[in-house]
Amino acid sequence: MVEGYSPLRLLLIGSPGAGKGTQSGRIQNNFEVSTISSGDLLRRNIAQGTDIGKRAAKEMKNGAFVSDEVMVKLIDSELAKLGAEQGWLLDGFPRTMTQAQTLDHTLESLNQPLNLVIHLNVPEEVILQRIMDRWVHIPSGRVYNMTYNPPKHAGLDDVTGEPLERRPDDNPETFKIRLQKHHELTEPLLDYYKNRNILVSLSGNTSDEIYPQIRELLQTRFKPEDASEVAGQGLA
Ligand code: AP5
Ligand code: MG
Repeated sequence: MVEGYSPLRLLLIGSPGAGKGTQSGRIQNNFEVSTISSGDLLRRNIAQGTDIGKRAAKEMKNGAFVSDEVMVKLIDSELAKLGAEQGWLLDGFPRTMTQAQTLDHTLESLNQPLNLVIHLNVPEEVILQRIMDRWVHIPSGRVYNMTYNPPKHAGLDDVTGEPLERRPDDNPETFKIRLQKHHELTEPLLDYYKNRNILVSLSGNTSDEIYPQIRELLQTRFKPEDASEVAGQGLA
């Protein structure tokens, strides 16, 4: 971390399929942050057959939210693994007002308040097609798309060579429910963070419109260790 800059403590908010996982991967490749993705954590718990996985599987398959209690416990235990100087970003948590308020209490007690919330504002018309085209590597959370970001070898993860899967909640019916839940329960968080002056809303609907905006924002506010090197890398 460069002197004078706080570690990045960032929240990504966006509707299902807005690109939270995709942008998290790019940020992590270019800035010193650990990513905590609530959806990836839940899918790993399901794959491993844990108690949390058993409790979450049905809700996830149906597009409903997993209970606040389970989610808070899961994320708190991930945050507790990180040191105070470690930058991090949260993808998919909090997504209810209760989760947001509980997170604030936890971060207050750790003396690590959130310092930025990025809202990925992507038109709904373009999202469904992306979701129907999505393949994921469950153990890592890496996300692919057959047109926008295809794997190097069809059906296989670029890093491990393991098979990619479709998510059981990626179908038009469940997607509709996920969107409804987002409007009803998660969108009110935008005002919550706006009132705290830490919200930035970024818009874009074609493939690479949003990441350059994120990169510029983060470089201005949270200079990575070697900004010149990062600037020369192009998009991850
Ligand atoms: P979660 O896994 O978080 O799903 P989500 O919020 O519905 O979001 P997605 O992962 O579907 O989309 P994304 O924004 O990450 O988009 P992506 O980068 O993949 O949660 C799943 C479930 O877990 C919830 O429904 C709930 O049941 C439960 N859950 C999780 N957290 C919870 C919480 N806090 N409380 C309660 N329950 C919780 O991109 C989508 C596709 O688009 C990809 O194919 C990608 O390649 C493509 N794409 C991305 N960017 C672009 C671009 N710029 N141009 C073209 N294509 C692009
Ligand atoms: Mg995701």
